[in-house]
Amino acid sequence: MLSTEQIPDWAADPRTRAGRVAARFRERFASEPELWARAPGRVDLMGSHTDYNLGFVLTLPLSRDTWIAARRRDGRTVRVYSMNLDAEDEFRLDAIDRISGSTWCNYVRGVAATLQNEGFELTGCDAAIHGTVPLESGLSSSAALESAVATMFAGLGDWNLTAERKALLCQKAENEFVGVKCGILDQYSSCLGREGCALLLDCRDLSTRAVCIAAGIRIVVCNTMSRRRLSGSEYAQRRAECEQAAALLGVSALRDVTPEMLAAGRHELPERVARRAEFIVAESARAESLARALTAGDRPAVAQLCAESFAGARDLYEICSPAMSAMMDAMLAAPGVIGARQAGAGFGGCMVALVDAARTDAFRAAVRDAYYDSTQVHAEIYPVEAASGAAVFDIAEIGK
Ligand code: GLA
Repeated sequence: MLSTEQIPDWAADPRTRAGRVAARFRERFASEPELWARAPGRVDLMGSHTDYNLGFVLTLPLSRDTWIAARRRDGRTVRVYSMNLDAEDEFRLDAIDRISGSTWCNYVRGVAATLQNEGFELTGCDAAIHGTVPLESGLSSSAALESAVATMFAGLGDWNLTAERKALLCQKAENEFVGVKCGILDQYSSCLGREGCALLLDCRDLSTRAVCIAAGIRIVVCNTMSRRRLSGSEYAQRRAECEQAAALLGVSALRDVTPEMLAAGRHELPERVARRAEFIVAESARAESLARALTAGDRPAVAQLCAESFAGARDLYEICSPAMSAMMDAMLAAPGVIGARQAGAGFGGCMVALVDAARTDAFRAAVRDAYYDSTQVHAEIYPVEAASGAAVFDIAEIGK
């Protein structure tokens, strides 16, 4: 089981959440926060593993987010407290070390170190963090933390950082300081979200297009509550296989490969590498197709695209797990389902369904029951909204 949490009642109401975070800040640091920053998690609606192949992804920055309450302090010390984990970290801006092992502290430290290396002036501070993005579930709680931290330092230092640059610096922190070779999807989603819209992201030129989802369609995240230990090494292996496919096909990235080119060059590729390439080429095209289908409210097309995506993830890219198959069955059998598929890197974690809005409650209840019947695990099911990207916010305006 993962260390996820349902949003407690107090955190679902923004005013109450603000009150609790401020109270905890006072308790830990004996002062009042002077600045608040927030950044969303994300769920991808289409485009698994297309980002590092420079293809397209359709992504939804989530109403589940990370908040930071902060205050400048004299000197070069940064003290950060995580409410979710009830843990504190302290470091000096003059010597930012990576802590060994995978820990939330490295995301904070990594962003601070990366911003400084780029020449930004950072100030010492106290910060309390609270997130509603479930941890380690494939909804990018780490990118939400990184983007919130970068937003906080920019706000405290009173310097400007465009959303695009912020996303790239957060990705750099994750690639180089934390040591995870992720693509740009998570950080871009967290920094560039627009309220009420999905984003079609072109991972080559990093342009985004807002995609409206037709009225009556609701996005529901379904958490399998499982994660395969190997996901890190499997991720790196998929990346390497894609790079190999691109090199053998004579292009710099699989983005440049059309289905025709792949058919013509397939015999040059080892069988497994060919299957990986086949998935990526089709999945990137599906991201563009799903954007059109969702805007038009074309439910049969949504259903088909999602089904093709899951089948490819299972048979060609091999990122599915038994828990994901059980969840897929539960989602597809539930009332109101329009389409369902994997999300994030795969290997467990969250999946996503597009659901008839009027039947969201019935869908949730049926998925929970069916998934429990087949796995004896209580799934968490979250209907989500599209949220705006990382920003400083005015606590006095919260909940108005
Ligand atoms: C993880 C990575 C992203 C992306 C997805 C799969 O979330 O961090 O960069 O590759 O997996 O689409």
